[in-house]
Amino acid sequence: MEKITSLAKRRGFVFQSSEIYGGQSGAWDYGPLGIELKNRIAGAWWKEMTRLHDNIVGLDAAILMHPRTWEASGHVENFTDPLVDCKKCKSRFRADMIPEENLAAKKCPDCGGELTDTRKFNLMFKSHIGAAEDTASIIYLRPETAQGIYVNYKNIIQSNRMKIPFGIAQIGKAFRNEIVTKNFIFRTCEFEQMEMQYFVKPGTDEEWFNEWRKQRWAYYEKLGVKMDHLRWHQHGPDELAHYAKDAWDIQYLFPMGWRELEGVHNRTDYDLGRHSEFSGKDMQYIDQDNNNERYTPYIIETSAGLTRNVLMILCDAYDEELVTPDKNSGGVAEAASGTASSADDWRTVLRFHPDLAPVTVAVLPLMKKDGLAELAQDIRKSLQDDYATDYDQSGAIGRRYRRQDEAGTPFCVTVDYDSKEDKTVTLRFRDSMEQVRVPIVELADRIRQEIKAYKRIK
Ligand code: GAP
Repeated sequence: MEKITSLAKRRGFVFQSSEIYGGQSGAWDYGPLGIELKNRIAGAWWKEMTRLHDNIVGLDAAILMHPRTWEASGHVENFTDPLVDCKKCKSRFRADMIPEENLAAKKCPDCGGELTDTRKFNLMFKSHIGAAEDTASIIYLRPETAQGIYVNYKNIIQSNRMKIPFGIAQIGKAFRNEIVTKNFIFRTCEFEQMEMQYFVKPGTDEEWFNEWRKQRWAYYEKLGVKMDHLRWHQHGPDELAHYAKDAWDIQYLFPMGWRELEGVHNRTDYDLGRHSEFSGKDMQYIDQDNNNERYTPYIIETSAGLTRNVLMILCDAYDEELVTPDKNSGGVAEAASGTASSADDWRTVLRFHPDLAPVTVAVLPLMKKDGLAELAQDIRKSLQDDYATDYDQSGAIGRRYRRQDEAGTPFCVTVDYDSKEDKTVTLRFRDSMEQVRVPIVELADRIRQEIKAYKRIK
């Protein structure tokens, strides 16, 4: 994780929030490469969940919601973690995350000091809206995006003539006052979620639950994620959230071990039932195709962390590889048999799927002079409309390839003296480091074909 955190900072993926003031724990800033990566992950999810489904539509609900929302959802009462403090070193722990013997002996795992009794700590950030700071002005930052969907489900049925089964997808910020924030962007106080709520007829919920489990698993496979780093974990009775009848997490093997990446939940009719009770509004669905049958739909939720997906994709893509001395023109030495020995002979490479890579194509003139830079700039311009591009003319070409490998750029285009004569360029592939000669006029199409045919090789 240290290597990934340091690469993320060095290359402008993720910076600590407010670093010049010593940093703000639980919050991170996404730099130029980070925001591109995050946007592409969000885009891939959005395409998968909306464009590829006729019956799923999007929504962008406000972060600030009427406070009764959170009473109805059960978050005011139930969204708590068990908390203990050390009276001596003042460290704060989630009681379920420290060894049981420490908890039983009330002994701090860090300094051995005395721990307080366990108490419930609500994870919602609370603030006030308007000029008065009284109980009537309390407002919460949403701890999940889901509720914005539930309170809008009738609006969407009416405006978009949706018929059950149908889904509503949303990507947005969520906030939790996490007691422990560590492991880089894994668990933070401010984060983003990609959630889809699928409204189904009661009695069909288990079937749809299994279907969504299948689809979410297939999604990660399509993204080229290492499938032996993914597994399912079913929530036991003591893990289930207050709203869930059944819940399965997709876990990823992060550097710190297996951890939750995404959850698929059967939320039953709990949320709509509660909103009906607290708002006094009828949240039932009227099935006009079935004698106006009325029922409160069950909800199958797929809930993934966007920022957690960024971390997963970074971890999954990260690789270090020994490169033979003439390596920048092809071939990878086996570590055991390689003769290369200096640090320069290793490359760090992010093997992003080309659809997710922050930069798709980097254009590199072999030399700045003799018109090569100008030609390279023209080629870059011709690609800009279709692809995220970069341009780099400084340093030895091998070094420039390494810089692009580290940023996860799948294709480099090198412009050399022959390019001026025969109007061809070198197309270099990040993963294999192979190079082919391609006519400039065919470059955009060739890259498109390569992206379509992309298969992860390592
Ligand atoms: N609406 C259901 C819900 O919020 P959750 O299991 O609490 O369920 C869903 O969260 C996903 O949101 C998690 O699988 C994780 O990817 C992400 N997530 C939750 N808390 C997070 C945090 N503090 N920091 C980053 N991501 C978080």
